[in-house]
Amino acid sequence: MGSDLDLKHVGAQYERVALEEKDLPYQPVDLLTDWFSKAVESKIPYANAATLSTINQDGYPSSRVILIKEIKEGQVIFFTNYNSEKAQAISHNPKVSINIYWKELDRQIRINGSAAKITPRESEEYFQSRPYESQISATISDQSSVVTRDELERLTDELKLKYPNAPLPCPSYWGGYEVSMHQIEFWQGRPNRLHDRFRYELTDKWEVKRLAP
Ligand SMILES: Cc1cc2nc3c(=O)[nH]c(=O)nc-3n(C[C@H](O)[C@H](O)[C@H](O)COP(=O)(O)O)c2cc1C
Repeated sequence: MGSDLDLKHVGAQYERVALEEKDLPYQPVDLLTDWFSKAVESKIPYANAATLSTINQDGYPSSRVILIKEIKEGQVIFFTNYNSEKAQAISHNPKVSINIYWKELDRQIRINGSAAKITPRESEEYFQSRPYESQISATISDQSSVVTRDELERLTDELKLKYPNAPLPCPSYWGGYEVSMHQIEFWQGRPNRLHDRFRYELTDKWEVKRLAP
């Protein structure tokens, strides 16, 4: 069979800057926003893309990519469908993990925390800032349910006839989650695999420790 693939020769060279104890702010969100600003400045495509892992009711973890739209009051905000598989998992278990990897900067961030819905007013506000086509797709998509392409296109055409122009109302089943952080780890690639890793953990205050790479 030709379906095996050997990827052991695929390597990486880490030539980047260091992350040292002296660079660590007391509040990890300050480093998070600093790293995000650098990623955006560096024009990394999809710099705000992150892998969100949830725990399904059957105990299996499940991961998918989402876009982080805001970091506000120490919380990370993303938007989705409130009936989706991820939303069902969150309603059963709000503990989530978010992973961000910027290969251009040799940086990885891991956030463990709890997700909660933002207010309908905040979701509405963001929904209204989205392009017409995105509003249509968010409205017609019963995300994570089984569907045919024909049905998706029919629903799109119908909704476009009903609302020929923006704005559409924000559906009750669509909105944001804010993730409050419990643990956050910053990983900076260094030469010879001696990478820098720092993990912040919130007890009654933030504590930070260097971890072996
Ligand atoms: C680059 C990228 C960005 C995405 N952004 C979002 C997002 O912000 N919100 C969302 O619900 N799905 C987003 N998706 C789709 C999700 O990965 C996923 O397929 C969808 O949310 C359904 O996930 P679920 O069935 O686990 O709930 C994105 C996918 C990619 C590849």
